[in-house]
Amino acid sequence: MLSIFIALLVNLFIETSVSFTVVVPRDQIVAHVGSTVTLPCWISPPENAEALEIRWYRHDQFSNPVLFYQHEKIQDLQEESYRNRSSLTRCSGQSGGLKDGDVSLQLEKLTVQDEGLFHCYVSGESTYGSQEMVLKITALGSAPVLFPQPLDDGRVNISCRSSGWYPEPNVMWRSDERTVLHPGGVSRRRGVDEMFSVHSWTVVSHLDTQLVSCSMSLKTGEFRESRIDMQAFISSGSSDPWKALFFTLLICALLGLVGLILYKYRHKLTGKKPADQNCEHGGMENRKAVGDVNIEELRKHADQITIDREHLHPDLKITEDCKIVRDSPDYNHTGEGFPYQLCAFGDQRFTSGRHYWEVSLAREKTPPKNYWLIGVVKHGDFTAKDRSALTPSNGFWFLCSDGRNGFYISSDPSVTLSLAQSPERLGVLLDYDDGQLSFYNVKEKKHLLTMSTRFTGSVVPLFNPGVGDLSPLIILDCPKPEESPVESSQPLLINSSKPEESPVEKPEPIESPEESSQPLLNNSSEA
Ligand SMILES: *[C@@H]1O[C@H](CO)[C@@H](O)[C@H](O)[C@H]1NC(C)=O
Ligand SMILES: *[C@@H]1O[C@H](CO)[C@@H](O)[C@H](O)[C@H]1NC(C)=O
Repeated sequence: MLSIFIALLVNLFIETSVSFTVVVPRDQIVAHVGSTVTLPCWISPPENAEALEIRWYRHDQFSNPVLFYQHEKIQDLQEESYRNRSSLTRCSGQSGGLKDGDVSLQLEKLTVQDEGLFHCYVSGESTYGSQEMVLKITALGSAPVLFPQPLDDGRVNISCRSSGWYPEPNVMWRSDERTVLHPGGVSRRRGVDEMFSVHSWTVVSHLDTQLVSCSMSLKTGEFRESRIDMQAFISSGSSDPWKALFFTLLICALLGLVGLILYKYRHKLTGKKPADQNCEHGGMENRKAVGDVNIEELRKHADQITIDREHLHPDLKITEDCKIVRDSPDYNHTGEGFPYQLCAFGDQRFTSGRHYWEVSLAREKTPPKNYWLIGVVKHGDFTAKDRSALTPSNGFWFLCSDGRNGFYISSDPSVTLSLAQSPERLGVLLDYDDGQLSFYNVKEKKHLLTMSTRFTGSVVPLFNPGVGDLSPLIILDCPKPEESPVESSQPLLINSSKPEESPVEKPEPIESPEESSQPLLNNSSEA
């Protein structure tokens, strides 16, 4: 009896020393398209796995594995789509690898097709074990691009587009950060790469909406959001948008003035801050938090931009310092429409990172320029053709002001925008890595729009001053954020013994007196 027991015990002991179980994490693994992922798998109790057979395979593809290890090396038997992108790896830095029974799989350059079940199968001489796990693939799409289109009834149809998502994102519209707006429609398209492009639109009245945001999100919680300031765009539905704009601004100014007087008066009477009783207060705070762009933050990415003399169009003139460009007085613009060929290019080439520059479009005491085109162009594309060829796929990304024809970007098909005001100072932020080109109205501290794209190779700044404007196009020297208050206050303190004759304007301090009148206009729209 005792001997049987001992025999059983010995038997059991021998069994466990050569048998093992395969262990994988309980939770599914989530990874982005294009990234590298490790699918952890190990044997327990830990034992040297170098002499074992390790087979990673998908679904029922046992004989067509993702990776097959036998006779102490990885074998050639492999599903073709995993060639050169699968390997055995350590599931953590502490792991001793195969020697410690770690048989984790590393997969590179993930695609949507990699989503699904993976089996980790390990087999020894007298025993084997297998476990499965789920790999989920996600792709965070591009930042949504918003386009407002004025409707005849004075409202605005805003469309929101984004691509490169997996799986399908959830679309959410909000106005003024709070109210959820119902989308008028959502359509999704699946590309050849299996990724989703989403287009949604909604109709708002720009009179009772300040900020509209469109966000697209994945179940993982990752999301992309874009916002549009409705006050920066007005309806051009009427026959004369400029007239409508003038009256809108006039009425706003008057209402705002009345509002400001009442506000101050009440403040004096009660002697306390009217935060509780005034929607203006909350509104202003809101604007500060989300509506106003922090230009100082953008200027942290400021680059010195100069114009490349070598590739300058012969009908353009530039200053000695390569900062100011305008059309030559002799140039006779005969053709119709915007003179796209009058291009100047930046001397600086960008292949990564964030870069910011500012352009002045109005000299003191002259109205803002009517004609300009500003953006970036793929390096080497120095011959601008006709408008239909000026698309992102041909290496052109820009915002163009074409006088009465309004503003448009180099999208395909082209979309016309109605900006409330012609910017006097335009900020351009190139985010090469994220594939975004953003434009800002620096004086109003407003984000105008962001183009989403994918840059390849090097890109250079693009400038076109148009024809016939009084003001030239001036590339500004952006001060570094910390220095700006000092720099701008100095000319006031120092006696003008040394004339400030730099042709290049310094960006004004952000708290300039003209701007204090700005909340006046904004407030009234909420009054
Ligand atoms: C894998 O790499 C080898 C050599 O590096 C190369 O010849 C082969 O074309 C690659 N195969 C695939 C499917 O990429
Ligand atoms: C809004 O614009 C989209 C296209 O962006 C269009 O499909 C939709 O019909 C428009 N809606 C209205 C009410 O005009």
